[in-house]
Amino acid sequence: MTAMTTQGGAPLAPAAYGTMQWGGTADRAAAQAMFANCLDAGITHFDTAHLYTEGRSEEMLGELAGARDDLFVATKAAYDQPATAANLQTSVDLSRRRLQRDVIDLLYLHRFDPTTPLDQTFAALASLQQAGTIRYIGVSNFAAWQVMKAQGIAAGLGTRIDALQPMMNLVKRQVEVELLPVAADQDIQVCAYSPLGGGLLTGKYAVTGADGRLAFDDRYAARYGQGWMHEAAVGLAEIAAGLGVPATTVAVAWLRRHAPQVHPILSARSADQLAPSLAGLDLTLDAATYEAITALSPTPPPATDRIEEA
Ligand SMILES: NC(=O)c1ccc[n+]([C@@H]2O[C@H](COP(=O)([O-])OP(=O)(O)OC[C@H]3O[C@@H](n4cnc5c(N)ncnc54)[C@H](OP(=O)(O)O)[C@@H]3O)[C@@H](O)[C@H]2O)c1
Repeated sequence: MTAMTTQGGAPLAPAAYGTMQWGGTADRAAAQAMFANCLDAGITHFDTAHLYTEGRSEEMLGELAGARDDLFVATKAAYDQPATAANLQTSVDLSRRRLQRDVIDLLYLHRFDPTTPLDQTFAALASLQQAGTIRYIGVSNFAAWQVMKAQGIAAGLGTRIDALQPMMNLVKRQVEVELLPVAADQDIQVCAYSPLGGGLLTGKYAVTGADGRLAFDDRYAARYGQGWMHEAAVGLAEIAAGLGVPATTVAVAWLRRHAPQVHPILSARSADQLAPSLAGLDLTLDAATYEAITALSPTPPPATDRIEEA
């Protein structure tokens, strides 16, 4: 795989940090502390989006990371706007100003836009790349067929998709069926969001009245609303207690062992919350523990039938 690097040429650590909470549940002091702790842990890849916290996430990241060429800044465009050439240009120009960065290291399409021809979208991305405004191209929340359709168009324009950003954690494993195989086949880096299931896998929702996203955001409550997911979180917490480490740490360690090629995008609202996720990057699970955790969630069925005959 042609690995993505910083502008200074350094390879990326096997994890990133996401700033979706900055300017929302994480204030400036919390953001500064988490940024410093990520750098101490060797994380140089920071993920944001044009959409997050009405631009405050990008602005706060810009204040901290600015134009540093030893840091890798990814943002996303076209979530609530069609992915037209004009919208992409406007979005990227504003993101660059907020980020205080002439060159965006990685620009994702935030989701698949069925209303704009992919040829137009990718021609715009290719010309942003040729102009040196963005370095790498990514897509987020795409199905595998959408990735391959886009990759074919990108190839015709002399470029390629470098990164995928799907959801992935112990209770969201759909990515295993088609996206991870596509990424391996196409040499695309996968950066997975929500490694803790939005907080579910910390175990805190086993107690009624827990403070957090699943309690106050209906989208997350629905995303993680199935009973078996909460049972898996309880099972994970029990295994973690047996190991004497937080469930958060074990959730990250499981993801690293389950899909070592995937870079989880860690996130938190405070340095205290972040610490156990960072610890998960250094925890190695033994085979029995890994298998016990994996068994807490159903393995998604394969993409094709007749697999039992293979
Ligand atoms: N492409 C996309 O569509 C997309 C979507 C979502 C996220 N992302 C990216 O991926 C990053 C990570 O996603 P995510 O925030 O969903 O990740 P996550 O790791 O699944 O959830 C992080 C949340 O879990 C809770 N948490 C974390 N550590 C905790 C602890 N020790 N104790 C208790 N609660 C804890 C906090 O939420 P509360 O305090 O609110 O409970 C925190 O904000 C984001 O920052 C963003 O950059 C991308």
